[in-house]
Parts: sequence; C-alpha cells; structure tokens
Amino acid sequence: MSSTINLDVFFSAQSFQENELRNKSVVVIDVLRATSTIVTALMNGAKGVIPVEDMGEASRISQSVDSDNYLLCGEKDGTKIEGYDLGNSPLEYDRETVEGKTLIFNTTNGTKAIKKSLGSARIYMASFLNLSAIVSSLSAEENEIVLLCAGWKGRLALEDVLLAGNIIYNLGDGQLPDDANDGAKVAYGLYEKYSDDIRSVIFQCNHAQRLKNVVGTDDLDYCCQTDITDQLPILHDGIISI
Ligand code: MLT
Repeated sequence: MSSTINLDVFFSAQSFQENELRNKSVVVIDVLRATSTIVTALMNGAKGVIPVEDMGEASRISQSVDSDNYLLCGEKDGTKIEGYDLGNSPLEYDRETVEGKTLIFNTTNGTKAIKKSLGSARIYMASFLNLSAIVSSLSAEENEIVLLCAGWKGRLALEDVLLAGNIIYNLGDGQLPDDANDGAKVAYGLYEKYSDDIRSVIFQCNHAQRLKNVVGTDDLDYCCQTDITDQLPILHDGIISI
C-alpha cells in the first residue's frame, strides 16, 4: 500500500452519502453474518451472489430467472425470510446446497451497504474468514480505501469495527498508517485494545446476543474463524463472484 494512500472507516450503512465512495475501493464488512455467508457460499462453489435492497427487488429478480439455477436467500432481523430457500447462516451454504447456483441475497444491513457502494471503483467482501486475502489485496491498492462496516440499523456493530481494525493493523504491520482518518484511528485503537481475545469480545457484542436468542452460537463460532479461505469476493456488474 503506497504510504500516501487515504484510509477511512465508515461505521454503518447509513453513515455516509453514496458520492463519498466515488473512485474509492470499498471493503464491505458484515461479520455477523452477511459477508461471512457470501465468502462461504463462494468458497463452496456458488456461481455468484446478487445482493438486493429489499424483498421487492428479490422477488422481481427471482420471477425473471429459472429457479433451477437460482436460490432465494436471506433474513430479516436475523430470522430466515418466509418462503426463501436459505436464511443467513453460513452453515446452510454447504457445497451440496450452493455449488453452481446463483444466490439472490437479501439481508437487514449487509446487502444494503453493498447496494449503497455501487458507485465506487471496486467493492470487496471481507470477513475474518478471508482476512489475509483482503489485506494482501489492499496492500496493492492505488485507490483510496474505505472499510465500510454494515453495522445494525444505523448503529455501530463492534464486531465489524474490530475486523476493520484488524485489517488496518495488518496492513501497517502493527503500525497505524500515517494518514489514517479518525474512523481508521478508532478502529485500530479498538482492535489494539481487544486483540488478545477477539472471539470472546465478539460473543458479547449486541448482535451476537440477538443471534444467540434466534440461532444459537454455532454461527458465532464459525464467523470468528480466521483465514479458512483465500477467496476474494468482488462485485462486478451487480453480481459478487471470485
Ligand atoms: C445483516 O445483514 O444485517 C446481518 O447479516 C444480519 C444477520 O444475518 O444476522
């Protein structure tokens, strides 16, 4: 990463105007669970993932494609949407289920953050599952970088900020890049504070508490793993693929 690169962190999908991302490289982060699920689906052979804004867009697309090769996927407030093929647990996206399929994907925050980033130069999907792949790709980036934390309904989600901080820490070999913006300094600082035991901190996060009540802790365990894949999902023409 050239030393003059500008690095910033946005804390929710509602915390910025779309034109602030123009010509920048955006890394969308939704640790629990949207980007972790997207990385897993593509790791298990899904052909592509189409992020949508809402149920209306999801049903319009699903009515225009052949259902043999497409799956309707997503959640509302953490629970699988009625009538959908899959929810948003990465554990549902095994090879047997998703290989060769294109997924129409609708979630509470993650897909909205992706849709709001469409005007940017490049859009990556990041999770702890593909942390090193993201860091090595960003280290060759020439564009300004924005780590976009999806958050929860306009509020900060600590698990997303910790991943942003982890990416900044690794990008700078443990040092905070010279011209990190305030958002980047906050993420780096929080990562430094909690880096000894990220997993237990994530298990105490607000959304983790919500998920525990809805789906238990298996998804939390899974999403806290680091570098289980070197896949780098990127959005091209409305479809995320590797
Ligand atoms: C989201 O997009 O808000 C999350 O991924 C929700 C979830 O699956 O828990």
